[in-house]
Amino acid sequence: MITKLLSIFTILSIVYFFDDSIIDIYEHFSIYIPFFNITTYLDLIKYVVIPRIKSNESAQKLFTVEELKLYNGENNNQLYISILGNVFDVSDGVSYYGIGKTYHHFTGRDASRAFISGDFSEEGLSDDVLDLSFQELNHLKQWLKMYETKYKYKGKLIGRYYRHNGDLTDYNKELQIKFLKIEEDNRMQEIEKQKFPPCNVEWTANKGSHVWCTTQSGGIERNWSGVPRKLFLPGSKSYRCACVNKNDFQDLSISKFLIQYDECDPNSYSCYIKT
Ligand code: HEM
Repeated sequence: MITKLLSIFTILSIVYFFDDSIIDIYEHFSIYIPFFNITTYLDLIKYVVIPRIKSNESAQKLFTVEELKLYNGENNNQLYISILGNVFDVSDGVSYYGIGKTYHHFTGRDASRAFISGDFSEEGLSDDVLDLSFQELNHLKQWLKMYETKYKYKGKLIGRYYRHNGDLTDYNKELQIKFLKIEEDNRMQEIEKQKFPPCNVEWTANKGSHVWCTTQSGGIERNWSGVPRKLFLPGSKSYRCACVNKNDFQDLSISKFLIQYDECDPNSYSCYIKT
């Protein structure tokens, strides 16, 4: 009996090399799996598991605008949203996105701009975002990350972000370049924050502003506390209070952006600034 089954199994495997549809027959025989040896299990991964994963990938389809409209919960229980042209199944979030719920406006369409503006009017529910500031685009990217983490990705929306063949549109390419710049900015800001951690700041009516540095101020753990200085960013007239490591302070290339507080002892880690 086992020999017979093994023969059938082998034949089916060989046939599968030439015809994907044999998987169904193969699955039918899977009840005999306990009788098969280790090679069989490896084959099972190769012929059943991997093709299944692949077919799941191909389930991530291209939606037209009209098609996506069908997923607003009016025709069935399925709720899809699109953000920056990426479609997600948010049916599990029915308490947010269901009919009559606060964020129902997002379903069945791409309303990326409204994630930032909070404008849920018909005009506000737009997918046009290129004119948003870097900070706003950064925020929008956080929303996209939230959907990637929490909900199932379903595919791409043909339109402003993706072409009919799934390629990026020129609009989307421009956006991706902005995202790269934003990432670079964020990296630079993080480096700047490590080098010049923000001071602790407190304000009281009688004493004015109090700025001071500790080994943890600005949320940056370090083995030096530093002294408060005004840190001007290149090309900017505004400044923030930064804790500066005295060992770095001899470096003139940085010191032109670092100005002492008038009212403060240059070596003190704490200053009161009358405002
Ligand atoms: C630009 C404005 C806003 C937008 C675009 C927005 C969007 C959203 C979205 C899409 C969700 C569902 C998130 C998910 O699927 O997990 C959500 C959840 C929520 N929002 Fe807003 N929201 C906005 C402003 C506000 C404001 C002003 C408040 C409060 C005063 C608020 C309170 C909440 C709360 C409490 C939740 C549920 C969070 C949870 O239980 O995890 N939202 N919001």
